[in-house]
Amino acid sequence: MSDKTSRLLIISNRLPIQLTERGSKVSMRESDGGLVSALKSYFDKTATSNLFSEKIWIGSADFPEERWTRYKAKNTGGATFEIEPLFVPAKEYNHYYNGFCNATLWPLFHYFPSYTEYSDDTFKSYEEVNELFSEKILSILKPGDTVWIHDYQLMLLPGMIREKRPDVSIGFFLHIPFPSYEIFRLLHNRWKERIIHGLLGADLIGFHTHEYVQHFLDSVQRTIGLTHKFRQLNWQGRKVKANIFPLGIDYEKFHDMPDTPEVKEEKKAIIDKFGQLKVIFSVDRLDYTKGITHRLSGFERFLELYPAWREKVIFILVVVPSRQIISKYNERRKMIEEQVSRINGRYSTLQWQPILYRYNTLKFWELNVMYQVAHAALITPLRDGMNLVAKEFAASRKQQDGVLILSELAGAAHEMTEAILVNPTDKNEVAHAISHALGMDHGEQRERMIELQKRLKKQNVVNWVASFFDDLDAITKAQRNAVTV
Ligand code: F6P
Repeated sequence: MSDKTSRLLIISNRLPIQLTERGSKVSMRESDGGLVSALKSYFDKTATSNLFSEKIWIGSADFPEERWTRYKAKNTGGATFEIEPLFVPAKEYNHYYNGFCNATLWPLFHYFPSYTEYSDDTFKSYEEVNELFSEKILSILKPGDTVWIHDYQLMLLPGMIREKRPDVSIGFFLHIPFPSYEIFRLLHNRWKERIIHGLLGADLIGFHTHEYVQHFLDSVQRTIGLTHKFRQLNWQGRKVKANIFPLGIDYEKFHDMPDTPEVKEEKKAIIDKFGQLKVIFSVDRLDYTKGITHRLSGFERFLELYPAWREKVIFILVVVPSRQIISKYNERRKMIEEQVSRINGRYSTLQWQPILYRYNTLKFWELNVMYQVAHAALITPLRDGMNLVAKEFAASRKQQDGVLILSELAGAAHEMTEAILVNPTDKNEVAHAISHALGMDHGEQRERMIELQKRLKKQNVVNWVASFFDDLDAITKAQRNAVTV
């Protein structure tokens, strides 16, 4: 794999770019998504070793094919990744993305079985879209290429490629939790088998935490009767390994964000505006898994139990629009907005309002400013594969102060034990945690933050990518040796 002439094919449902059109001019902008910045910083920081000769990113296009053709006619090369969009027919994509991916797999894998929809039609589209990805990849795959597939939208894909190209090196990473078998078994038997067979097409299957690996191995055993030893499985004459790779962040990007005039001005404006108020901050995509309504109940309970804090605190709640076609997302939005308005109605005075709610995206620098000016971050998902917001907040604290309140049900809780860990369903626990955070002395804040930052700096995103490639390389070499012996 690492012979400097091999190519890397990165596969994810979403492409890491936006293609916009103004007048007759089409322009491309790289998005700020976690995965793209992870890979970019890895390639920047390892530029001299130049592991791969080319990097090609394949994903579904959210723009029309004709716009892409016009863009390509005028632009060649120059970017970190060569982009290969896949054009999936709209109806099929809708059944796949809003159906099987986000109305079946997403709720189930996040322990929301009652939100899970079961439809043979959407599973069929899931198979078809995975097949379209497979055809696209096979059409550009060359001997010696490495394929790295990402996330739950593409779990059938490793098996589909393996069937046609037994020799290729395939890595897969799951960015969401792999649930316990008692949850996984709720999928129809045929779907379960297809998913397990699909994943076993990879040489290496990565997860964020030890539990997710165990749940996966347990599900393999109970679905198809295949046992494992030291996280390795023998499947169709090949070794398949499941391993832990907790996703990190680009620590320096957050910690060393320069104080540009824009940033300075915004910081000052926020500090002037909120004056002596202590700021609690949270930001999430609008998703029922993020526990926003439970979080609001926790904050309300805090105001009830600790009246001395009223008029001395503000909760800035930023919710980013997401998956708006799915009814459960719209319902959640209504629930959040009703709750915000009820709590504000109950506690506001003429001079003070407890919650500042914003339903919109934040620019990177705005987010960084909020991470820096908040006294505490309140990050309480009901389930989360990892949760990078928790890591970004801690990394941004240049003064090494501030307190992180984190759900014990987020993957990040395994590494961030210096946070105040809470069960997000217990509003009393959340209320006490807020009071603990706001009352914490500076020395303790620093002690906790220094430990958090040390770990984030070490287990950063470059490390994450590098350890995945190292493991994949070792397995690929072992497979090849086993074949030649
Ligand atoms: O956490 C899983 C994930 O797929 C992320 O990779 C992504 O940022 C997020 O969910 C949002 O997904 P979508 O592409 O559906 O907006």
